[in-house]
Amino acid sequence: MNLVIASNNTHKIQEIQPILDNSFSLMSLSEIGCADELPEEQETLEGNASQKAWYIYNKFGYNCFADDTGLEIEALGGEPGVYSARYAGDGKDADANIDKVLDKLHKINNRKARFRTVISLVLNGIEYSFEGIVDGKILTERQGTGGFGYDPIFQPDESDRSFAMMSISDKNRISHRARAVIKLAEFLKQHESA
Ligand code: IMP
Repeated sequence: MNLVIASNNTHKIQEIQPILDNSFSLMSLSEIGCADELPEEQETLEGNASQKAWYIYNKFGYNCFADDTGLEIEALGGEPGVYSARYAGDGKDADANIDKVLDKLHKINNRKARFRTVISLVLNGIEYSFEGIVDGKILTERQGTGGFGYDPIFQPDESDRSFAMMSISDKNRISHRARAVIKLAEFLKQHESA
């Protein structure tokens, strides 16, 4: 089955690819000739994932999935959430985003947070949705240099290391995105054998 992954984020694609093994031929946006900036104008993760997947399906005619992820910090009422990429401004600067979080949580003891990923799959004109969550906490300072986004300040409950200190395969054992992609993969396998 040919399936387009509606993302240009190479970190993300590197995380997703090994989970979806070889049963699916994953195509990138550049492989289908799409250089468009995908629309993400909704106010929820669900809305954005859905908007991106339908955009590709309608414009290019491929079965497609898109994901949207947010870091939800309890003491900040779920911020930055759907605004995670642009928390510190339109520049999508990961370092500035981290600084803003650390600043806002300065002197706050409740460090509970979670990453939540929503995947929308549009398959032959029908939409399906999958969610993955990992609970953890926000560290008081950066730890590790791997990964991307908020990885240096997020430590999942299952580990004593930040995401930025983990290999991709370690992160994939527990991450929000991996959990959503595993659900997607199981669904696609069942769908193919049905
Ligand atoms: P997206 O919807 O997957 O593009 O994610 C939005 C933003 O959330 C990204 O720009 C990152 O700042 C952050 N983010 C998403 N996934 C991760 C992750 O696995 N680790 C750290 N930050 C992430």
